[in-house]
Amino acid sequence: MAELVVLASGSGSNFEAIARRVRTTHHRLTALITNTPDAYAIRRAESIGVPWIVVDYASGRSAAEAQLLDLLTTLDPDLIALAGFMKVLPPPIVDAFASAIYNIHPSLLPDFAGLNAIERSWNSGASRLGITIHYVDAGIDTGTVIEQHSFAREEVSSLEEAEARIHALEHSHYPRVLCEALDRPGDRRSAM
Ligand code: GAR
Repeated sequence: MAELVVLASGSGSNFEAIARRVRTTHHRLTALITNTPDAYAIRRAESIGVPWIVVDYASGRSAAEAQLLDLLTTLDPDLIALAGFMKVLPPPIVDAFASAIYNIHPSLLPDFAGLNAIERSWNSGASRLGITIHYVDAGIDTGTVIEQHSFAREEVSSLEEAEARIHALEHSHYPRVLCEALDRPGDRRSAM
């Protein structure tokens, strides 16, 4: 049995997909951590029965980052999954959990790193749209790519359809990749 912690800032649809998938395994999603006190992800956590914790960045970034490091050190998960967590993790956290932090991003990295990736991909006229699952390093959406999944732009006819298609790809692949990593002792922090 391995333990996972998810960090999310907003709606939490990926968090929910991960939580539901992990429930079908012998692994445990031990907590949702959010930086947003009114994140919809918290409501999802309550309805699924996952403990949640707010790390409040309103009191200052360095205090929040220290609190986050303390929290993660105490929880001591085997894996950490960022799922729409809109804060950059500082080097002490990335170093402490090296190779055990995963992220999902709604574009084919290295294209369209950062915010509003779906809209920017769509507006660019790129011939393919998709998602990237990658390891987290100290940059913004820059870590080593684990998997990418895509579809042709002409398969969808609006930005809204592209968003729906991208979220469906995320909800299908990210929980699977995380559960596969939880299954492999060599990919988990506790094995390092
Ligand atoms: C997802 O599309 C995820 O890929 C994106 O935020 C969204 C969160 O949605 N992440 C990034 O853009 C990271 N750079 P959710 O809260 O419904 O899971």
